[in-house]
Amino acid sequence: MRRPFVAGNWKMNKGPKEAAALAGQILSEIAGVNNVDIAIAPVAISLASVHLVLQNTNLKMAAQNMFYEESGAYTGELSPLMLNEIGCKYAIIGHSERRQIFGEDDELINRKTRAAISHGIQPIVCCGETLEERESGSTNDKVAFQVKAALSGIRMEDASKITVAYEPIWAIGTGRTASPEQAQEVHAMIRNLLAEIFNSAAADQIRIQYGGSVKPANIEELIAKTDIDGALVGGASLKADSFAAIIKACV
Ligand code: PGA
Repeated sequence: MRRPFVAGNWKMNKGPKEAAALAGQILSEIAGVNNVDIAIAPVAISLASVHLVLQNTNLKMAAQNMFYEESGAYTGELSPLMLNEIGCKYAIIGHSERRQIFGEDDELINRKTRAAISHGIQPIVCCGETLEERESGSTNDKVAFQVKAALSGIRMEDASKITVAYEPIWAIGTGRTASPEQAQEVHAMIRNLLAEIFNSAAADQIRIQYGGSVKPANIEELIAKTDIDGALVGGASLKADSFAAIIKACV
């Protein structure tokens, strides 16, 4: 059995004070909730204040992005060493907003994924198709291509450190969720692909999150699907009560 994993991607919201306050509210909402892995991904400048609130709790921190080098002339970037120091257990890699707005390509995402693993940071590798790709029937090809590219060169013994987040781009922030059946179909395809890349035992261990307009109202149907192991939540993770409701539904 895979342990469910729910992560909240706060995107470019909540500066240091608000982020620390929200982290505290989430902690009280999830007191006593077990058997689920939980993370929040504050904006980089809020990692330090949130870290202080989360110390010695079961709420872990994720970075929203990470560069692959340890230090140097990379203006504006954050290194895996720095994320380790500030207490990030996870890093979201290759979110569709990074791909579309900031031009991240599959090769860069692969370098980041490998760097995260070699520094002990667990990558949450994002993939997903556009509406056009879904309508033209190329969803599986697109997602398979992204997953293969991102995981190229990852060793079998590191497979269990990876989380894949399937996020159809047309469902992100739009209020339009993939149906549980649509999501399950892609998740199953991803799991088969992971079995080809690694082997089926490794594929069975890797958590595949669904993301895209996840809310308390739709999580139950999604998490009930065989290959949906949790959620990457954007908008609904910015309110402690809705994020906690999603987490509790996944246990
Ligand atoms: P959303 O975002 O839940 O607001 O759709 C999900 C994501 O981008 O990770």
